[in-house]
Amino acid sequence: PRNDLAESPSYWMDHVGPVLLSESMIKTRVAELGRQISADYSRIAPEFVIIGILTGSFIFLADLARKITHPLRIYFARAKSYSGIHSTGSVWLHDFELLDVRDKHVLIVEDIVDTGKTLKAIAEELGRRGALSVQFCAFISKQTERKDEGVPEVRYVGFVCPDRFVVGYGLDCDERFRQLPFVGIYRS
Ligand code: XMP
Ligand code: MG
Repeated sequence: PRNDLAESPSYWMDHVGPVLLSESMIKTRVAELGRQISADYSRIAPEFVIIGILTGSFIFLADLARKITHPLRIYFARAKSYSGIHSTGSVWLHDFELLDVRDKHVLIVEDIVDTGKTLKAIAEELGRRGALSVQFCAFISKQTERKDEGVPEVRYVGFVCPDRFVVGYGLDCDERFRQLPFVGIYRS
């Protein structure tokens, strides 16, 4: 896709490209998701709770939340399963004990879903903490076969991407490239 930033030589060009999602594609899709989420939650509760999963969701959530017209409260918690560009296979959750989710309708906002292990761990944790409902919103869903059992369905998906490591719009490789306003394939 065409992208203004992608056309001028820049520091990231040695490691990122081709661009998969341009800034304007992202903007359009995030607004659609915001409308859909607002319509759905306005039907089920006077207020709902969003939990953004750090760090990758911070840019997506900032844009998405400003397109939601229904009352909500926003929390953040941490999940980590990757080291560099490889999954470690185990999911580490942090700060969920600080959240007030009991009897609340909760929407988890994630940057990207790959195997679904992270989602599964989060769903189990929120179940234990008494959430009334838990749904998932992912900026990107990778085109991978989800082999694990009990992986929850992602109700709101921004984009489906090929099974490559991608960075930008919050997504990183060892904390780098999160700031890019578009998403591209990472090349080491
Ligand atoms: P699972 O396998 O648990 O993985 O669904 C989800 C988590 O892994 C990270 N992840 C990525 N991060 N580019 C990234 O920057 C990628 O292509 C990628 N694939 C997986 C991410 O932290 C996500 O929450
Ligand atoms: Mg990451």
